[in-house]
Amino acid sequence: MSMRMRKKRNFDARMEACGDLLLAKGAGGILNMKEAAENYRNLVDFSKAFGNDNPVALEIGCGKGGFVIALAKETPNINYLALEKMSNVILTPMEEVKKQGIDNIRFLNIRAECLPCYIPEGSLDAIYLNFSTPLPKLGYATQRLTHRNFLEKYKKLLKVGGRILQKTDDRDFFEFSLGEYEACGFALENVTYDLHEGGNPDWNVVTEYEQKWVERGLPIHRVEAVYKG
Ligand SMILES: C[S@@+](CC[C@H](N)C(=O)[O-])C[C@H]1O[C@@H](n2cnc3c(N)ncnc32)[C@H](O)[C@@H]1O
Repeated sequence: MSMRMRKKRNFDARMEACGDLLLAKGAGGILNMKEAAENYRNLVDFSKAFGNDNPVALEIGCGKGGFVIALAKETPNINYLALEKMSNVILTPMEEVKKQGIDNIRFLNIRAECLPCYIPEGSLDAIYLNFSTPLPKLGYATQRLTHRNFLEKYKKLLKVGGRILQKTDDRDFFEFSLGEYEACGFALENVTYDLHEGGNPDWNVVTEYEQKWVERGLPIHRVEAVYKG
């Protein structure tokens, strides 16, 4: 996904047509001053947004949305928030949700850094991190989505007993993440370095990136990090 990706045709009108699915919009992937201010709050009312009080799960970096769309159809009694910083990218799953008439997904076109501005504390049952950008250079460690600065934000948003479910093909990033979860007091469950060993488990929903790496024979790593309160 190139940063220089050309804007989709009729982008503004198409975004507008899906506007009812969009709960928050940042500034084109750039932290805006309002959001960056620690005390800025514009919290989403889940009951109003989804029309029910079902449990809420969040996917950070949903990309084209294949994962969240398949999961939402499998589990209609769970509400999903799909977060993606790139507006040009998030348009694809928004249009698909609209087309298929799926009623348990809403979108956040913001950076993960800004989640506390929009998501109430103690409100999430699960956070999915699928193939987050590994950012291998040391200087970018604080921007990795499993850096402790992010984990401390996620802890505030999760219910006690809620969990982060992470998949990645990048072993160094995986091991870095395991260390960060432990340093932040999460309990690790169901750790595997080869999720697809012996075939894709029947419960696992494969993401776009996962499909690509599995076809190339790369092992997929997965962990569930439980917030103990
Ligand atoms: C490598 S792609 C993976 C897409 C999808 N989850 C999958 O598994 O096929 C990572 C996605 O995360 C998004 N992303 C990266 N950093 C982010 C951040 N700080 N906040 C929100 N989205 C982010 C990128 O724009 C990109 O779409």
